Amino acid sequence: MKKIALGVCSSVSIYKACEIIRLFQSEGFGVRVIMTEKATRFIDPYLFTSLTGERTIVHLFDDQQRPIEHISLVDEVSLLLVAPATANLIGKMASGIADDFLTTFYLAAKCPVLVAPAMNEAMYLHPQTQENIRKLKSLGVEFVEPDTGYLACGKKGPGRLAPPEKIVQQGLRLVRAKDTFRDKVVLVTAGPTREFLDPVRFVSNPASGKMGYELAREAYQLGAEVILISGPTWLEPPPGVYLERVTEAAEMKEAVLKHYARARVVLMTAAVADFRFRKTRPEKIRKTEIERTLEIETTPDILEELGQHKGQRLLVGFAAETGQAVEKALEKMKRKQVDLMVANDVSQPEVGFASDENEVVLLWPDGRSRKIPRTSKRKISQEILAEVEVLLNERKSKR
Ligand SMILES: Cc1cc2nc3c(=O)[nH]c(=O)nc-3n(C[C@H](O)[C@H](O)[C@H](O)COP(=O)(O)O)c2cc1C
Repeated sequence: MKKIALGVCSSVSIYKACEIIRLFQSEGFGVRVIMTEKATRFIDPYLFTSLTGERTIVHLFDDQQRPIEHISLVDEVSLLLVAPATANLIGKMASGIADDFLTTFYLAAKCPVLVAPAMNEAMYLHPQTQENIRKLKSLGVEFVEPDTGYLACGKKGPGRLAPPEKIVQQGLRLVRAKDTFRDKVVLVTAGPTREFLDPVRFVSNPASGKMGYELAREAYQLGAEVILISGPTWLEPPPGVYLERVTEAAEMKEAVLKHYARARVVLMTAAVADFRFRKTRPEKIRKTEIERTLEIETTPDILEELGQHKGQRLLVGFAAETGQAVEKALEKMKRKQVDLMVANDVSQPEVGFASDENEVVLLWPDGRSRKIPRTSKRKISQEILAEVEVLLNERKSKR
């Protein structure tokens, strides 16, 4: 099993370590907790032992069976995360002090190190703390910027521990990043669009944006710079991803074209409305007039336009169809010059639009196809990006 070491210091935000453990576990990681002695004044180590199923380490000289555990643990973990990290711990790390298990382990560790500071704003902004952070960054240690807001001491300012989800995403990126995606821009579109008739009426579709948000999250973890262009959804954007919100198809097209030049991979999951109203009104149209006013026109086909100016980019299209999904997707793939098409039949109950699960068929222009049976959209996003990685590597080796 993949495992991370979680260093925990004596900060009021220590309770958030429980959520960090849970999130890593849900991603298939084991967690070994190392507490500073002072942290045990806030929480009994037994809590972390219960959550992780492994003895929480506090002291250097505790374990009679594994006397040099600070060295043997080095080969077991793929990340050292310190969250929450106190000003004291950051200072000790920056100075190479190794006077307890956590600081000794830091010096012995060969894996990536991620530090999430949590402290009062004066402590965080103190030139000594800032100097320590700069020094550690220059040594390759990564940091999760703390949030600005109300702190446990009642003051407001920078120093609040970043949200667990953000810390875990950054940690997963350190563990999972691949050379194929590093320094590459991945552009993702997600969600529906809304085409307004007047201020209170629009046409749209039931797309939730879940597939696109999962792909953005996965591409970030694999090390890419991710730009997510999203139609209206209630979803929380994945941390670390640049989000641009749009409403109408025309806005989505404009946003996509703005970032297209920098993109290496484009994943077009958005369910862009096919038509809009020819005339829109600034005021609510009276019910009696609606029938007379309705005139529609088709919206721009963004994917088709991108295909015409594809260059070296890898274009992934998504086709949501009702019946004969594969046949219709094949036709779209050819017409729009797409490199990988993801077809799904949205007439199937319980999968597709708004669901957490889907069942798709991947199609390649050379005639290959691969069915991904019903599974979570997270798993599907992993499979799609694994295929994108193969295509990127194939192109690299052909050059
Ligand atoms: C109630 C309380 C809350 C504290 N919260 C923090 C904190 O959030 N960040 C911090 O750097 N220090 C905090 N401290 C101070 C540290 O506990 C102190 O500097 C300690 O020596 C750090 O030890 P450690 O780094 O080994 O855990 C707090 C102290 C107390 C009493």
